[in-house]
Amino acid sequence: MNIPIQLRQNLLAALEKTGVTIPDPARIQISAAADLQFGDYQSNAAMMLAKPAKKNPRELAQQIVDLLDSDLAETSIAGPGFINFKITPEAWAKHVHLQAQDALLSVPQVTESQTIVVDFSAPNVAKPMHIGHIRSTIIGECLGRIASRLGHQVIKDNHIGDWGTQFGMVTWAWKQGVDEAALETAPLQELLRLYRSASDASKEDEAIKEACRQELVALQQGDAENKAIWERCVELSKKGLNQIYDRLGVSFDHWLGESAYNDQLAPLVERLEKEGYARESDGALCLFSGEEKPPKKDPFKINRDGEWQDQPMIVRKQDGAFNYATTDIATVEHRLNEWKADQVWYIVDFRQGSHFEQLFDISTRLGYDQINLVHIAFGTILGKDGKPLKTRAGDLPQLADVLDDAVKAARAVVAEKSHLETEEEKDSLAELIGVNSVKFTELAHHRMSDYVFDLDKMVALEGDTAPYLFYSYVRARSIFRKLEQSEIDGLSSENIELTEAAEIHIARMLARYGDSVRVVLDDFRPNLLCTYLLELARAFHSFFEACPVLKSEGTQRETRLVLCDLTSRVLKDGLSLLGIDVPERM
Ligand code: ARG
Repeated sequence: MNIPIQLRQNLLAALEKTGVTIPDPARIQISAAADLQFGDYQSNAAMMLAKPAKKNPRELAQQIVDLLDSDLAETSIAGPGFINFKITPEAWAKHVHLQAQDALLSVPQVTESQTIVVDFSAPNVAKPMHIGHIRSTIIGECLGRIASRLGHQVIKDNHIGDWGTQFGMVTWAWKQGVDEAALETAPLQELLRLYRSASDASKEDEAIKEACRQELVALQQGDAENKAIWERCVELSKKGLNQIYDRLGVSFDHWLGESAYNDQLAPLVERLEKEGYARESDGALCLFSGEEKPPKKDPFKINRDGEWQDQPMIVRKQDGAFNYATTDIATVEHRLNEWKADQVWYIVDFRQGSHFEQLFDISTRLGYDQINLVHIAFGTILGKDGKPLKTRAGDLPQLADVLDDAVKAARAVVAEKSHLETEEEKDSLAELIGVNSVKFTELAHHRMSDYVFDLDKMVALEGDTAPYLFYSYVRARSIFRKLEQSEIDGLSSENIELTEAAEIHIARMLARYGDSVRVVLDDFRPNLLCTYLLELARAFHSFFEACPVLKSEGTQRETRLVLCDLTSRVLKDGLSLLGIDVPERM
């Protein structure tokens, strides 16, 4: 049961009975009322249709209302001919009942399920996963969960950067002396140390820079020792990354990194050259414009000083090596041919925008136009100084350190506010709050906006935070610990009755859940679901304060218990779609 959809059908039926012509039924819509005082929904259909029918809009509205056959709402007419619909308490109660019985909690299912590849996280091996990757990791996991909940087939692929110039440096430093013990305990940190020592040394010494380059060439030519070192680097990195993913509750179906496509690149580039997409330029092989689009819309053109010039995409460098772009084209082929993907979502920093525009353009020209490629971009995380977040030493902050800091901040709040008894319980609550607060803060912002990373604010119990939602969930559940098991087992939503305004309001908020999940995918905006959950939580607290549960009796008590139970289920489910687990006590 979807109240606005059903109401719209009732409205269309009434319109038909009036006999006015409806040129475009799709334009007849029901919208949520701005002010609940007048009703829950509104329609301007009478005003839209009156003029061509040469009728008075208010009179037409009256006619529609008289002919409307709906047990969902009471109607009224306002202003020049708006029809207001006030959903009846009985209709809300029925919705609560159906939602409570539905394992999917009234989240709608798509009519046509698609295969969607979510390309997210994708850090670079032997370079640490830094805070910039956090946005991709968290947004990608959430969008994957939501798409699969709505009924799509989701393939989560971690396209790690496991092939590239950094391996020359790491291999060189590895041969200078690798700390085997550190590799076992803290692989990412040791690989980072190697990378940094080579990178620093090669800045000071040309000979070392050249030595690093030679190590890379040897690797690319298949040198056995270098290949073995590279393999260990990748394997250790995966181990280190998995520790972080476990902590974040993130998982993948595949880890097809850049190196997985090595064998496809030479034949691909040959095809690009033979079919005339690519040609040599300054010793490199480059893709150029297809000359099919106006220059303004052509990602292979750029305007310099008022003149449109070529902006090629390199697919083979001067030294013969293939690159990021070449690999990404091969990856599109693989996802289309092997996985029959309908869509690929690339959750990647906005700075890579032109790379993806070029990738999508060439993919279409190559005939891969059955696949819908989408770049889901995001902005920057800022420090309190308003500049991109850095550590005190000026480095990019490491994700693991950021999570540790968040847990520390959460631990202080837990020490002060928690009712838990043992230190172990408090520690694990702090881990849950810390990690999930980072996630919630990320998702609660519009993905394109930059936001200031403020640990104390995000772990606070008050505000638009994860702990506030946790507290709401725990509060809704707490009541059930005070009941006899027989009352819990006997609870039914069959005969509930909504009488108080706060009861009706929480029912109204619960009914909005399905659409709040669905709209996330319209423009890939998890923040809409975050906003909804916060609003639901606020409605719940108002209800809980206005309507005593344990002191009430009979139908009223049953109604209120059902509302508490359903609210807790929606909160838990909505958070799980964001990738967030809830505590049972706090
Ligand atoms: N490894 C890249 C980076 O850290 C992101 C890869 C994104 N995915 C892709 N298919 N290009 O910037």
